[in-house]
Amino acid sequence: MSKIQAAITAVGGYVPKKILSNKDLETMVDTTDEWIKSRTGILERRILEDGKATSDMACIAVNELLQKRGISALEIDVVICCTITGDLIFPATANIICDKVGAKNAWGFDLAAACSGFLFGLETGSKFIESGKYKKVIVIGGDKMSAILDYTDRNTCIIFGDGTGAVLLEPNEEGLGICDSILRTDGSGREFLHQKAGGSLNPPTAETISAREHYVYQEGKTVFKFAVTNMAEVSKEIMDRNNLTAHDIDYLVAHQANKRIIDATADRMEIGSEKVLMNIQRYGNTTNGTLPLLLWDFEKQLKKGDTLILSTFGGGFTWGSIYLKWAYNS
Ligand code: UT7
Repeated sequence: MSKIQAAITAVGGYVPKKILSNKDLETMVDTTDEWIKSRTGILERRILEDGKATSDMACIAVNELLQKRGISALEIDVVICCTITGDLIFPATANIICDKVGAKNAWGFDLAAACSGFLFGLETGSKFIESGKYKKVIVIGGDKMSAILDYTDRNTCIIFGDGTGAVLLEPNEEGLGICDSILRTDGSGREFLHQKAGGSLNPPTAETISAREHYVYQEGKTVFKFAVTNMAEVSKEIMDRNNLTAHDIDYLVAHQANKRIIDATADRMEIGSEKVLMNIQRYGNTTNGTLPLLLWDFEKQLKKGDTLILSTFGGGFTWGSIYLKWAYNS
């Protein structure tokens, strides 16, 4: 019998309608459209309305995916929600999503690995499929970053946006799906990108709130240096160990944090810009949402048998690459 691999068989996504442009940000912090464009590649990002949460975006993405695949929510075995902005500290947002979409036969959990969460979730989900026990696993990646951004801090508020994507994993015995992965963490990098308060180390108090410690804190320049080096290295490493040349790769699906980091990764892999999927200009950095939203936006372009390299770098530090063969034509 051939080996069971986990293949993506459907994709769904959602980005809020409200657009926050660079021009809008010029009126909020000391920045310019030109600075943001040239340093990050971002033109605009989406903002979810007040009163809505990550699960609301995720449910739209999941329902789209179910409809495209022509299956009922009752057929889903497992839901993994990769996020750093879950609806509540607990219970898990995956539970809320299962309830809202009617996935009554599924169990689920949240997975937190900052910007690499979706990649780590894909790896986790693929192991459930490879075990043979589970046939339909949904991996969601998404964040309402606007809920944890300080819109007086120009170092962070210009980068991030809101959005969520979701993929369905199913068994494949034709050699399609997830072929290899390299995942890494280095917790010593936590000081450069984190949220200071709200967890068990610094529970919420009036002081933590007035010190603005419930927002994203980032030392951008340091994170940039680690991101360029590590995302490029791991992407090259996964190519080398699978004997892949630039010619073999159809698309690079890279975390959308900064166009300069994505370009550096593509250069290291020696692949041309025509093979680099990019939507950072429209959504900014949606943290866990970037990879599934790329697959969602470019789904029609992807053909059965295409070779994709997915790569991320994020807070933790966390980073990694997945080599997969696309499994369907849409
Ligand atoms: O997704 C998770 C992982 N995160 C990342 O991968 C993000 C990695 N970091 C980055 O993408 C970049 O470091 C940033 C986009 C955050 C910043 O870009 P940079 O080119 O590294 O800028 P910088 O921090 O070195 O700042 C350069 C200058 C500074 O001014 P001086 O000291 O040279 O006078 C900053 O104060 O630009 C200034 N600056 C800004 N100016 C206008 C910083 N932010 C802004 C801004 N608008 N928004």
